[in-house]
Amino acid sequence: MDSTIVSATAAVLGSLVGGSATVATAEPVGFSTFPPVRATPAPQSPSNGDVSLTTWPPASANVRRMETPQTIGVIGAGTMGAGIAQGCVVAGISVVMIDVDEERIARARNAISDGIERILTKAAAPAGDRGAALDRLRGTTDYEALRGCDFIIEAATESEALKIAILQRIDAVAPHGGIVATNTSSISISRLAATAKLPNAFVGMHFFNPVAAMHLVEVVRGPQTDDATVDAAVALAKRLGKTAVVVKDAPGFVVNRLLCPMLNEAALAYSEGIATASDIDEAMKLGCNHPIGPLALCDLIGLDVVLAVMRVFHHDLDDPKYRPAPLLEEMVAAGNLGRKSGRGFYAYEGAK
Ligand SMILES: NC(=O)c1ccc[n+]([C@@H]2O[C@H](COP(=O)([O-])OP(=O)(O)OC[C@H]3O[C@@H](n4cnc5c(N)ncnc54)[C@H](O)[C@@H]3O)[C@@H](O)[C@H]2O)c1
Repeated sequence: MDSTIVSATAAVLGSLVGGSATVATAEPVGFSTFPPVRATPAPQSPSNGDVSLTTWPPASANVRRMETPQTIGVIGAGTMGAGIAQGCVVAGISVVMIDVDEERIARARNAISDGIERILTKAAAPAGDRGAALDRLRGTTDYEALRGCDFIIEAATESEALKIAILQRIDAVAPHGGIVATNTSSISISRLAATAKLPNAFVGMHFFNPVAAMHLVEVVRGPQTDDATVDAAVALAKRLGKTAVVVKDAPGFVVNRLLCPMLNEAALAYSEGIATASDIDEAMKLGCNHPIGPLALCDLIGLDVVLAVMRVFHHDLDDPKYRPAPLLEEMVAAGNLGRKSGRGFYAYEGAK
């Protein structure tokens, strides 16, 4: 492999290792332990500073600003939603975080509290800042709470039908047309935008896991996304300390288009018995200079997420080379989703 590609891959994957997710006990799971498993007129660009922040959301959907939003709505309090919410409150932005039940919200709040503690301790920030950051977080199951949000990031489960239903709920409560972003890993921004009230104000913001450690945000421009929306997404990414790369809408964008087929191939190699899980991971770490092996990375990302991405590639790119590994299908059906379920290609002690 070209050494540039190898080092670039290592750089992308490198931050994962520095992330907050730590393997409790990473015991490879033996082969025998699971089965071989709406359209509106094009908006004007925002005029330079002639609309005050207090007028947001604007009465006219065609007037938008690029300043940092005051309150961000985050839909989904899972791995990514919690990470994005944490990044926002640490950056001084208020967050309304929505999920389907109070238990998930409480779990995310605890994770965010721990994350804030780690980040601010490392930054030697005054103790009062921790409480202040957490105070900026409000969790609820009530979509009505999104009315006060000027920027909404959807980070719910990777399902097109679910995301379309969520977009309709957002449109019902956010009639003024603030910006709506989706953190989808693979679903077509164009198809999602087609169901939104304001496709011009709809954009992809693809954060990486773990959000606190990963520097990239792919800002995905759909065919109708306007410049002001792209600029606002890039500005928000920067405000959160990230580097934004603007990409066209295509399945998996850039990173997952390259990464997920490799993860799928690793699952195939494992199920064919080419090597044990830990040997596959060791081989890719030492042979390609990846800081984490592909099967451990599957567990970190979530096997359900990897499977959902491969299903989208298979369907949207219409090429058999993207067929999901049967083992991934079986493991997900069995509830072995990786770290979040306590078991994937490895077993994790103490996981929920
Ligand atoms: N896991 C990753 O590494 C990763 C990386 C980048 C992007 N993504 C994308 O981020 C999104 C979320 O992934 P995740 O890994 O956080 O998944 P997750 O399973 O950890 O969390 C998803 C959350 O969405 C919630 N949810 C489901 N329906 C909902 C609804 N109607 N309203 C509000 N919340 C709802 C679930 O209860 C759950 O808490 C997906 O689109 C995924 O593709 C994931």
